[in-house]
Amino acid sequence: MELDQRIEWIADLVERHQGGAQPEQIQREAKAVFAHLRPDEIEAVERGLTARRVSIEALHEVQRLHLDNLQQELAAIRAAVEPWHPVRTMLDEHDEILRTLEALEELNEKVQKASALERTVPAELRILAENLLAAEHHHKREEDVVFPELAKGGIGMTVKAMSDEHDELRAMKQALRGLADRAADMAFADFRQKLGQLAQAIVFNLGDHIYRENYILYPAALRMVPDKALWTELKRRCDEIGYCHFKPVH
Ligand SMILES: [Fe+2]
Ligand SMILES: [Fe+2]
Repeated sequence: MELDQRIEWIADLVERHQGGAQPEQIQREAKAVFAHLRPDEIEAVERGLTARRVSIEALHEVQRLHLDNLQQELAAIRAAVEPWHPVRTMLDEHDEILRTLEALEELNEKVQKASALERTVPAELRILAENLLAAEHHHKREEDVVFPELAKGGIGMTVKAMSDEHDELRAMKQALRGLADRAADMAFADFRQKLGQLAQAIVFNLGDHIYRENYILYPAALRMVPDKALWTELKRRCDEIGYCHFKPVH
């Protein structure tokens, strides 16, 4: 959907929220319309709403409603499975990956404001790139253990797209590590520009990937594979692949 159409939808949604529409309906639509909004599009949304004389304060209320809804959904999934469950492990690992993405965003912002390379930046960047690359076992467990079960349930195209994204993201993470290694030998303006592009692409694309797994794919996995014995077998195969250094194993 084009950005203009999404802005129309959001404006309409905010007005219906102000008009007293059911919060459940607002949350359902907010989940669909906010899902793939990039950070740089949020400004355009606020401009579009201002031009339509729709309250920005009310937009923020809808966004808060949406975030509360997501938190509750995730808490419900966690509560529905035991700590050893492969889906629980995936969600916990997503939290760790998202924390690294936040740190990458902060580091990038610091570099974008600077006029010269701070001495500690290459090492900080290298640690973040290594942390992101350390999630390879997570992606392999998804591809080799969980996704094939979902493909059997008829969503093979979706899981193929998710696996392709793992490959694209891996290349970007490797490029980030390469950039950390070359930082001290590059012109600062060149480093700053390359970091800006790469960090934004990784933060958005990996964040969006995890969003779809948390709120669409894993809830679907729990519905499609209700058999606890099968999850026990899947957990055994996950153990064979192994875990990431940042996640305690149950
Ligand atoms: Fe994934
Ligand atoms: Fe994942």
